[in-house]
Amino acid sequence: ATTLGASAAQTGRYFGTAVSAGKLGDATYVGILNREFTMVTPENEMKWDATEPSQNQFSYSGGDRILNQAVSTGKRVRGHALLWHQQQPGWVQGLSGSALRQAAINHVTQVATHYRGQIYAWDVVNEAFADGGSGGRRDSDLQRTGDDWIEAAFRAARAADPGAKLCYNDYNTDGVNAKSTGVYTMVRDFKARGVPIDCVGFQSHLSGSAPSDYQANLQRFADLGVEVQITELDISGSNQAAVYGTVTRACLAVARCAGITVWGIRDSDSWRTGENPLLFDANGDKKPAYTSVLDALNAG
Ligand code: G3I
Repeated sequence: ATTLGASAAQTGRYFGTAVSAGKLGDATYVGILNREFTMVTPENEMKWDATEPSQNQFSYSGGDRILNQAVSTGKRVRGHALLWHQQQPGWVQGLSGSALRQAAINHVTQVATHYRGQIYAWDVVNEAFADGGSGGRRDSDLQRTGDDWIEAAFRAARAADPGAKLCYNDYNTDGVNAKSTGVYTMVRDFKARGVPIDCVGFQSHLSGSAPSDYQANLQRFADLGVEVQITELDISGSNQAAVYGTVTRACLAVARCAGITVWGIRDSDSWRTGENPLLFDANGDKKPAYTSVLDALNAG
C-alpha cells in the first residue's frame, strides 16, 4: 500500500499522529493528516489544564474539534491524558490530600464520560514513574495522595467509559530498564488483582538509536496480556531513517502491538525544536524516514 495508514492496516494495525487543533486550518497539514493517518491523539487539547481550567467547569472545544475532524474522516482517537503531573490547571496546584484525590477522580469521570464511546484508548495515567534507577513512582502531587491513586483512576475511567481501552503511558520505558520494570511490575499486579488496564503506551522519544531490547520489552508487556502501543514516536539523529524502520519492525513482530503514533506531522510541528525528528519536512514532503517506515509496514 502507498500510505502509512493503509500499509499498517494490512496487518490490522493503525498508524497515528498527534494533532493540534490550531493547525486544522492549515491545508498542507490537513492534507497529510487525511491521506496518511488512521489514528489521532490530541497533542494538548484533552489534558487537564485544557479540559478543566476552573474546578468543575469543563471546556471541550479543542478536544471536540480534533475528535470531530478525526471521526468525520474515518480516523479513530487516542485520548491523552486524563491524569499527569504536568499541564495541571492552576487551581489543582493548590490542592492536596483527599481534596486533590477527589478532584482527580472527578476529572477522570467527567472527561471520560464526555467522550464515552468515542475513544479507542485513553492514556489514563501519564508518566507516573521516576527517572533513574529506583524503579519507583515519581514524586508528584498526585503520588502524595497515596500509592493507590493510579488504580483509583483506572477504575473510575472504566466505570465512565467501559468501551475505551485504558492505557498507562510513559517515556524512557522503551527498553528493559529499572523504570520499565517498575511499570511492568505495576501492570502485572493490576492484572493479578483485577484492576482494569488494557494497554501500555511506550512514548518512544528516541535520540540516535532504539534500545537493543526494544522489541523484547514490548513483548514482555504483551505477555502480561495487555495491548502495547507506540504512542509518541519521534527520532533524532543521523540514523533516523534506519531507527524508524527498526521501531516499525519491532511493533510488527509483536502480535499485541496495535499500532504506532508519531508525535506530530512535519518537523516544524514537533515539540523538539531544531531536531527534525518526524516523517515529513517543514514543506510537508516525505523524508527518508517516511520511506523506511512505509517499506517496513509493507514488508510486514
Ligand atoms: O497554548 C499556549 C499559547 O497560548 C501560548 O501563546 C504559547 C506560548 O508559549 O504556549 C501555548 O501552550 C504551549 C502548548 O504546548 C501548546 O503549544 C505550552 O507552553 C507548551 O508547554 C506545550 O507543550 C506541550 C508539552 O507536551 C507540555 O508538557 C507540547 O506541545 C506537547 O507536544 C508535549 O507533549 C508531551 C506529551 O503530552 C507527554 N509526553 C511528552 C510529550 C513531549 O513533551
